[in-house]
Amino acid sequence: MHPLAPFLALLGLAGTSHASAFDQADTLADCLTKAGVPVDEFESPDYKLDATPFNLRLNYTPVAVVAATTVKHIQDAVACAREVGVKANAKCGGHSYASFGLGGEDGHLIIEMSRMNKVVLDNTTGIATAEGGTRLGHLASELYSQGKRAISHGTCPGVGVGGHALHGGYGVSSHTHGLSLDWLVGATIVLANSTLVNCSETENADLFWALRGAGGSMGIVTEFRFKTFEVPENLTYFVAPVQWPTEARALVGVQAVQEFAETMPAELNMRLFIARRFVNLEGLYYGDKEGLQAALAPLIKKTNATLALAKTGGWLDQVKYFGGGSAIDQGHGYEDHETFYSTSLYTKALDETQLQTFVSYWFNQAKSNTRDWYVQIDLHGGENSAVSKPAANSTAYAHRDYLLMYLLYDRVDKGIYPADGHTYMENFASNVTESMAKSDWGRYINYPDSRLSQEDAQGNYWGGNLARLQGIKKDVDPEDLFHYPQGILPTVESRSG
Ligand SMILES: Cc1cc2nc3c(=O)[nH]c(=O)nc-3n(C[C@H](O)[C@H](O)[C@H](O)COP(=O)(O)OP(=O)(O)OC[C@H]3O[C@@H](n4cnc5c(N)ncnc54)[C@H](O)[C@@H]3O)c2cc1C
Ligand SMILES: *[C@@H]1O[C@H](CO)[C@@H](O)[C@H](O)[C@H]1NC(C)=O
Ligand SMILES: *[C@@H]1O[C@H](CO)[C@@H](O)[C@H](O)[C@H]1NC(C)=O
Ligand SMILES: *[C@@H]1O[C@H](CO)[C@@H](O)[C@H](O)[C@H]1NC(C)=O
Ligand SMILES: *[C@@H]1O[C@H](CO)[C@@H](O)[C@H](O)[C@H]1NC(C)=O
Ligand SMILES: *[C@@H]1O[C@H](CO)[C@@H](O)[C@H](O)[C@H]1NC(C)=O
Ligand SMILES: *[C@@H]1O[C@H](CO)[C@@H](O)[C@H](O)[C@H]1NC(C)=O
Ligand SMILES: *[C@@H]1O[C@H](CO)[C@@H](O)[C@H](O)[C@H]1NC(C)=O
Repeated sequence: MHPLAPFLALLGLAGTSHASAFDQADTLADCLTKAGVPVDEFESPDYKLDATPFNLRLNYTPVAVVAATTVKHIQDAVACAREVGVKANAKCGGHSYASFGLGGEDGHLIIEMSRMNKVVLDNTTGIATAEGGTRLGHLASELYSQGKRAISHGTCPGVGVGGHALHGGYGVSSHTHGLSLDWLVGATIVLANSTLVNCSETENADLFWALRGAGGSMGIVTEFRFKTFEVPENLTYFVAPVQWPTEARALVGVQAVQEFAETMPAELNMRLFIARRFVNLEGLYYGDKEGLQAALAPLIKKTNATLALAKTGGWLDQVKYFGGGSAIDQGHGYEDHETFYSTSLYTKALDETQLQTFVSYWFNQAKSNTRDWYVQIDLHGGENSAVSKPAANSTAYAHRDYLLMYLLYDRVDKGIYPADGHTYMENFASNVTESMAKSDWGRYINYPDSRLSQEDAQGNYWGGNLARLQGIKKDVDPEDLFHYPQGILPTVESRSG
């Protein structure tokens, strides 16, 4: 019996799907043992490493944790989950804000991928293969050491390539070089019926399309194949604090930033980072300090920003800087955690009224939240952004056209996050979108909001690509084995496009 079964029965959860998953624990364990699949022993050190999510607020309990080291372990684990009737999910870096790597609820079979993280660069083609459990920092350091190459990706070295590249992957190179998923040229994946297939533009093309934006709902990727770019010899990372003491000045400042975003040069990658006590413009410039100063000059004039830091260095210097100074090369064990609620938005440039609402909420509501919160606004689109160049339906990532991408993040530095804590950021987002048509904004599945219903979440995350995704899901996972509370559901809708 699963150690938690009596506890769940006491809570009156017996009979719910979660409790019945725990009721199946023995049968599942037998199946895994028979197939020779390694499983973390409950409460062992490995179990604690593998079953602890980045966000300690959402610490779900799996029915079992598979410590996969081979593709066959993954295939057999998927077969057992299917046979026994429990949901299964891959966990790579465990960094999903809603703990979707743990299934996003109790009672899932978790296939921990992070022991499978081999990266090999083919120096003649520039194609890299990375196993499905690789973390971003390991990928970056291997691509650099094996050939001074890279892909575009986000900042935290502990984030998994699995979740990141299957659902977007936006970082300080994205305005110049696009999303992580734009560098994906092929993948090997275990489907719900345990078969292993390859996909690319020319092989299982529908599946390949769906993987690039909604991969977690489609199967378990055992290997990614990325094209890569040659890293520049030197880049310049920077921080330019702004002082906007009044609402009126913040309004002028944010307006100037979003106008600048529309046409800023491709070489510039930047975000507006608003915290309780400071506001920064920060980012990465593909060039030297003089080039950066020239590119930023018009914005600095309008915002009164001060270029406080502009440091030129090599590729790994900026990876390390944006990674917060921690070790780049992250492997299986990872023990940094936070406790938080977050949500996200994508919008076009805000109009005068929407800007006013944004600034008013920031000054009159958000500032009274004394927790350690921030709102990060990435300058995502614009006419020179590599993200916005491909058509919005060229991959399952639906939000290429939006100018701004917001992460609204509210954490406690210690202790428990309060039960009503979410209202600050939730209301921040809904105040901004209140006057917008539903088709004029979205949310980012890599910054998921754990409070959304499945229906709202699917609409917010996948917008115009949802119907086609549901059709593909129905083909590859009709019983929703790879279920999580905000994932793609298999529907009977006919596939569009
Ligand atoms: C500190 C921090 C910094 C971040 N910075 C950025 C950033 O700069 N830019 C950005 O875009 N995002 C950023 N993110 C968000 C991050 O991209 C997402 O949380 C991402 O989904 C995490 O992937 P993971 O593998 O670590 O997470 P997990 O929780 O392990 O997985 C997330 C989802 O992907 C699925 N999945 C994982 N691996 C596989 C696989 N091999 N095959 C199939 N499905 C798989 C899981 O089942 C789950 O649904 C950050 C997150 C954190 C916590
Ligand atoms: C790949 O190329 C880089 C740079 O040219 C070189 O330093 C490295 O040794 C090569 N690696 C292999 C495995 O050939
Ligand atoms: C997938 O493609 C790779 C690389 O081309 C190949 O080595 C592998 O055998 C293929 N696997 C399957 C299941 O087709
Ligand atoms: C910039 O500074 C000038 C002079 O102090 C001030 O009038 C203006 O409001 C400031 N603008 C912003 C956006 O802070
Ligand atoms: C450029 O980057 C290299 C590392 O690739 C570093 O050694 C050098 O100091 C950098 N140059 C400048 C001007 O910072
Ligand atoms: C806007 O924020 C206020 C203050 O938090 C809140 O009371 C209100 O419900 C919010 N409005 C919307 C539409 O979210
Ligand atoms: C497994 O599922 C895929 C996708 O639905 C299908 O194409 C394939 O035929 C199935 N394989 C087996 C052995 O059933
Ligand atoms: C994408 O959208 C365009 C028009 O908006 C349409 O012509 C095209 O067929 C669509 N492509 C896919 C793959 O759905």
